[in-house]
Amino acid sequence: MEINHFISKNSNSPIAFQTRWEAPSNIALIKYWGKTEPQIPKNPSLSFTLSSSVTKTEVIFTPKSEASFDFEFSFEGVLKPDFHPKLNTFFERIKQYSPWLDSYSLKIDSSNSFPHSSGIASSASAMAALSLCIMDMEKELFPEFESELFIKKASFLARLGSGSASRSIEGPVTFWGKNSSRKESSDLFATPFGQNLHNVFKDYQDTILLVDKGSKPVSSTQGHQLMFDHPYATSRFIQAEQNLNTLASIMETGDLDGFIKIVESEALSLHAMMMTSNPYFILMQPQTLEIIQKIWQFRKETQIPICFTLDAGANVHLLYPMNTKPKVHSFIDDVLAGFCQNRQYLTDSVGTGAKKM
Ligand code: DP6
Repeated sequence: MEINHFISKNSNSPIAFQTRWEAPSNIALIKYWGKTEPQIPKNPSLSFTLSSSVTKTEVIFTPKSEASFDFEFSFEGVLKPDFHPKLNTFFERIKQYSPWLDSYSLKIDSSNSFPHSSGIASSASAMAALSLCIMDMEKELFPEFESELFIKKASFLARLGSGSASRSIEGPVTFWGKNSSRKESSDLFATPFGQNLHNVFKDYQDTILLVDKGSKPVSSTQGHQLMFDHPYATSRFIQAEQNLNTLASIMETGDLDGFIKIVESEALSLHAMMMTSNPYFILMQPQTLEIIQKIWQFRKETQIPICFTLDAGANVHLLYPMNTKPKVHSFIDDVLAGFCQNRQYLTDSVGTGAKKM
């Protein structure tokens, strides 16, 4: 699908409309790290869509007499002007694809299911939920809209807000970024894994071990920029694509040993990029490494196929099959919780994607 498929008509008869969507967070197994304008990834990525960690967003669209778009954003009912710069950039990017927005005033209210200060990035779920509200309005204005285009354009708009948000529309596993293992793949929007996903991954578990709930010293957006002059950038982009191709077939066969090798290597490669950029930085904390060692020890002793991944922060995502849940939960409570801030962790699992509320 080409970029011009995403340009909608303008509307001659603005209408008042209100909608509410819930979109999940996602955790990348193959990491997106490095991009060019406008939000085009340097390598393809693949993620598990989560189910309990969600953003709920309501948008009230009010028609305006003259064409001058504006918006107001509140989080849990409290006005948050500090979110305006990021949202302004988003709206500036998407207005060429949804020009009807210019005749509206938007009142946006958002809330997260996960604690605000958990160190969990909410930009993926937030941008996905907002994009779905915008697409719902677009469908109201142009009822002939096809459902396939609705989903793809929601992912396309979400990407323009935050790259990883493109992967938060559908579930349980999505790809984003052109790659040789999927002919339908695109740099412009994410696509679901499809029919051949092995059953073991359809209800995979993710416990997010909250090591550091503070804000990150270096944002993802800054991190992506540092891949420009990075000495290992070219090899990293090749490695990510190769890992994605290998993981895509592993996720069809259900080979958990193969899964673990790729997923952990991707997490550590992401952090290796951070440690070798200029300026270099470290987002892991001592407890992150303690947890990784404990996971490796537990896996060796019990042969239970648990593994970890990391996002751009100190928290650890512990990934394991549904049928190992009781034993893994005892291990979390007995051992891993001790390395978490105030023993806190969030229990989540792979989910099916966003929904209208
Ligand atoms: C490490 O999607 O947050 O989580 O496009 O600048 O908003 P922007 O970046 P963002 O980057 C996510 C980085 C990551 C890996 C991933 O989710 O693939």
